[in-house]
Amino acid sequence: MRVIEHIEDLTPLHHGALVPTMGALHAGHGSLIERAVAAAAGPVTVTVFVNPTQFGPKEDFSKYPRTLQADLALAEKAGAAAVFVPDASLIYPDGLEAAARESAAWPLPPAATEPKLEDAARPGHFGGVCQVVARLFDLCKPAAAFFGEKDFQQLRVITQMVQRSAGRWGSLRVVPCGTVRERDGLAMSSRNRYLTPDRRDTALGVYRALQMAMSAQRPATAEQLMRETLEQHGFTIDYVAVRDAATLLPVSGLETPCRALIAARLPEVRLIDNMAMPVWR
Ligand code: PAJ
Repeated sequence: MRVIEHIEDLTPLHHGALVPTMGALHAGHGSLIERAVAAAAGPVTVTVFVNPTQFGPKEDFSKYPRTLQADLALAEKAGAAAVFVPDASLIYPDGLEAAARESAAWPLPPAATEPKLEDAARPGHFGGVCQVVARLFDLCKPAAAFFGEKDFQQLRVITQMVQRSAGRWGSLRVVPCGTVRERDGLAMSSRNRYLTPDRRDTALGVYRALQMAMSAQRPATAEQLMRETLEQHGFTIDYVAVRDAATLLPVSGLETPCRALIAARLPEVRLIDNMAMPVWR
């Protein structure tokens, strides 16, 4: 496996598969890499870049876990051909201040502005995500790119960005991959390492809330059950919502495929998770 730090060295990897990450890799990232390898869409490149422009001023950019040696080992084991570890100056050649201005003005698809979920809770976040992912697509020229359903709104935003890109990235396919969970149901996340052992049990409340939603007969009941479960576990809720799985807008009619989505905070960590709902009739 190659570790790449220069743009020229990416050329042999063009038209392969891309797995963009911020590092601190875990088995969820590993499953994306394995899916990409299994899809046999050419060599698989994993990118590791903690993108400053997608973090808000009060968020965890500076303390975001950086574990490059372990990341390289995990990527190699999962079958990656290369890991691209760019310096910020390579992604943002005009500097971070210019990059921050550019990300704030980034033209966003509807899934990044209309749902009022992550977009409302983290203003500016999707501008930074679209900016860095577009830059990675420009540099790596992948034929397919793999993203996790764990970040469901992000997946919808990137899918729409590519659909609306008028061929800027050729016939690039965005491939969604299911969420990998711990044995007890907690969705794997790089931020789970912020959880102290006693908070680890509390964190499971997010998964329990989604399971409660699954048992509901109506979207409104599902939202109420999720809210109650999260409050019982001591979470501060950013949002709980049951939405149209395609648009992430409020559910308009029966038989619409729905997704329940949660963002909730404990003192040291903000957790997000989501789950497909049964079809309500
Ligand atoms: P990061 O949080 O490192 O996630 C990288 C990819 O791994 C994303 O597509 C995410 O949805 C996926 N992922 C994370 N946890 C997962 C899990 N438990 N199961 C399945 N997939 C999981 O998302 C980002 O980085 C960044 O925003 C990025 C797209 C790289 C742009 O900076």
